[in-house]
Amino acid sequence: MSHSLLTMSYIVAAILFILSLSGLSNPETSRRGNYYGMAGMAIAIIATAIAIAGAGNVYAVLIVAVLIGGTIGAILASRVAMTQMPELVAIMHSLVGMAAVLVGFANFMDSSINMTGSEKTIHEIEIYIGILIGAVTFSGSVIAFCKLSEKISGKPLLLPARHWFNLALLIGVFVLGGLFLQQTEGSEGSLPMLLLDHGGALPLLIMTLIALTFGVHMVMAIGGADMPVVVSMLNSYSGWAAAATGFMLSNDLLIVTGALVGSSGAILSYIMCRAMNRNFISVIAGGFGTASGGVAAAIEGEVQPIDADETASVLLAAKNIMIIPGYGMAVAQAQHTVYEITKFLREKGKKVRFGIHPVAGRMPGHMNVLLAEAKVPYDIVFEMEEVNEDFANVDVSIVIGANDIVNPSALDDPNSPIAGMPVLECWHGKTTIVLKRSMASGYAGVGNPLFVLENTRMLFGDANATMQAVLKALKG
Ligand code: TAP
Repeated sequence: MSHSLLTMSYIVAAILFILSLSGLSNPETSRRGNYYGMAGMAIAIIATAIAIAGAGNVYAVLIVAVLIGGTIGAILASRVAMTQMPELVAIMHSLVGMAAVLVGFANFMDSSINMTGSEKTIHEIEIYIGILIGAVTFSGSVIAFCKLSEKISGKPLLLPARHWFNLALLIGVFVLGGLFLQQTEGSEGSLPMLLLDHGGALPLLIMTLIALTFGVHMVMAIGGADMPVVVSMLNSYSGWAAAATGFMLSNDLLIVTGALVGSSGAILSYIMCRAMNRNFISVIAGGFGTASGGVAAAIEGEVQPIDADETASVLLAAKNIMIIPGYGMAVAQAQHTVYEITKFLREKGKKVRFGIHPVAGRMPGHMNVLLAEAKVPYDIVFEMEEVNEDFANVDVSIVIGANDIVNPSALDDPNSPIAGMPVLECWHGKTTIVLKRSMASGYAGVGNPLFVLENTRMLFGDANATMQAVLKALKG
């Protein structure tokens, strides 16, 4: 493939990626956005594959790699439940990080790259930064995967003097970077050779270990309630890792795509922080909201249960209804039944809206995806700030498998781990009905005083089963 044709294909792919991102920013155009992304990726892969033709056995290697990777990806994607999506995304990020580290070391050891002077120095800086970002992304994403899949506790690990520890690691990275550039002057050969003659491999390896440690420490220090920011931040890191790989491989499209992912992930992290009233730096430094060392207030009071028939009566008597979905709706896969109930109530002339918290569920836009799957019209789905002022006019709020996002202690208990996070203030409405299976706490592990408020009723059971019982009672 001629160079200009390759450049052309890369430009088309880059434009498709940009269109994809803009499509994905709105539920109504997100399907189109996905198609643009798929088309862009297909063009990118085909153009790159054709462009490297002629380099020996490259096609055989490529086909084997694509078959292995494609099969693993297809099996994983077809098996993964919607609730496990964030874990899958986290582990995918780790692969991008690992790829950047491996490409970095391969570049470092490649004796066929003959560069001199400033060109060589720039290439070495690219390698160093690429491996640095890749290693942080890799280990951070593995820990995020373990936390999200509950393989390790979601509680923040707060080492004493952790900020000094991070600072020491950062200084180490700078010092080693200087050593690396000094030692790489005029060196080439295999890794053991480079280790022996100090060809820069030793500082590079030590820096890789430091970066891996930093990734682990950074994510371990972040508490459950702040995990959404970590997921989007690692998304951003994986983009920068891909961009760094693009620099090392001199692949323009990878640079552009990496930068798109990196910057959109950074914007998403910022939006998440703002939505949760968190300071980005505090979240990354770890332990936000736990620094006060206080103990969250215990929940005291009596729970008032309700059954499906009574819930149906309350709904039939209401005019203005708010549905607040949370992670439990995803677990129960109750979205279709919820929409059946919504349709029924709307046909009866009631105003039914959905109030969506920005971190409801386990990934950005989790609830929107579920509601779109159930074909809930977008015009009755509102963001938190669009409805929060209006709860005084709401007759019934139905909280479906949500907990942290409707916890009043976020607003009135400064010792709560979720203190300061805006929540859907459903308790200002006339009645709140909470659907969950038990009195267990949510992701952040904190008790919820909403459940014992005078105007709250608890409808215990699996959200789909209880919603079906309510639908039956409504129709009966
Ligand atoms: P949570 O606070 O996790 O509460 C979910 C509730 O659903 C649980 O209390 C659980 O209670 C109930 N539940 C689980 N399965 C159920 C079922 N089959 N039927 C009925 N109820 C069920 O969820 P939330 O309110 O959506 O808040 C999200 C939390 O996740 C926040 O703390 C947020 O920071 C965190 N987080 C979010 C993200 C993103 S990006 N959205 C990423 C990582 C973490 P029972 O066990 O008693 O049923």
